Amino acid sequence: MTSSRQGIYERFIRPYFFNMDPEDAHLLAHKLAPALSIARAQTEIWYSQLSPRLAVELAGAKLSNPLGLAAGFDKNGDLVEYLRLMGFGFAEIGSVTARPSPGNPRPRIFRLLEDEAVINYMGLNGQGAIKVAGKLAVAHPSVPLSINIAKTNDPSIVGDRAVEDFVNSFKAVKDLSVIYVAINVSCPNTHETKLAEVATIDAVLAEVVKLNSRKLPLFLKLSPDSDTEMLQNVAQVAAKHELAGFICGNTSVDRSAVKTAEETLRTIGPGGLSGPPIREKALAVCRQMWELKQDGQQIIACGGIGSGADAFRFIQAGATAVQLYTALVYGGPFLPFTILKELGAILDDRKLTVAEAVGSGNRKQLPARI
Ligand SMILES: Cc1cc2nc3c(=O)[nH]c(=O)nc-3n(C[C@H](O)[C@H](O)[C@H](O)COP(=O)(O)O)c2cc1C
Repeated sequence: MTSSRQGIYERFIRPYFFNMDPEDAHLLAHKLAPALSIARAQTEIWYSQLSPRLAVELAGAKLSNPLGLAAGFDKNGDLVEYLRLMGFGFAEIGSVTARPSPGNPRPRIFRLLEDEAVINYMGLNGQGAIKVAGKLAVAHPSVPLSINIAKTNDPSIVGDRAVEDFVNSFKAVKDLSVIYVAINVSCPNTHETKLAEVATIDAVLAEVVKLNSRKLPLFLKLSPDSDTEMLQNVAQVAAKHELAGFICGNTSVDRSAVKTAEETLRTIGPGGLSGPPIREKALAVCRQMWELKQDGQQIIACGGIGSGADAFRFIQAGATAVQLYTALVYGGPFLPFTILKELGAILDDRKLTVAEAVGSGNRKQLPARI
């Protein structure tokens, strides 16, 4: 379903952005965000028209809706005042790293038009955890925030120093007013193979938990490329450290589902794939984590979500909340409202709240009574 606000973006605004280098377009979108305030009165009308069934509780916080901005879009916490104007119910800032980093050389974001997908090789660029935390401490966020921490992208930081680096990021953010902290152990763009190992995740969590005196809910951000054994191990470690849940998931290195020509992909080189081609993988990881998680742990789904129907499939697979990034590139700043309108209609139709729909697609069918 294309609403008129979607039509206007796709016909008049997107072509202008798509004529630009993707990272320049992203930076311009950041500069233009304050202009969304012009639409404030209209967005309040859109909010008032949304179904009350969208309200949900995530990590103990009450959200007006379950749709969040995924990590990476507002890495440095510059847009927090404007995110409500886009329809989001919450937003994940970051990834932030202990040390500031320029990331990998440009160009490092590529659009795959045919797939409505993106490949990024950003490599965790950012202003650093201390600077971002300083900004957030005095900011006036328009939606509940969470923050995503990752290891500084420096191949010389390994072993105990990698754990220490994570701990330094956590120290910088642990007193912020956030609903959860996401621990990103799944960035495919840093040549950091060790981080994906369960022993390292265990060591990082052990130290973070020791420092977590406020008992901030902790979520682990997983890769959609994780195999069953990895997910089983991660679930055990997460149970041991009493994590609040999982974000399923990050970008993927698997390009088997893209339509874009091999030649183009070769020219792009390495990077994490996002958007519709990773949707089924993310969904499969959600379903597996729903089976593996402890009662009370929650799942935040992410990967190729771009419509209310997509969001509902992930909720039925076990997600309490959903996030997006790539769909915004193709659908524009007001896409969240369209998704929420669609999701609200699906929930109203089935007379379900989000909480009632969570995992409903996974329950085994009871045998018919004879
Ligand atoms: C340009 C770009 C930068 C990203 N940066 C981060 C990041 O810093 N930390 C992180 O955890 N995920 C990052 N992601 C991954 C997204 O948060 C999300 O997990 C992934 O893109 C899948 O969702 P999508 O298909 O809706 O984009 C980034 C994604 C993109 C496209």
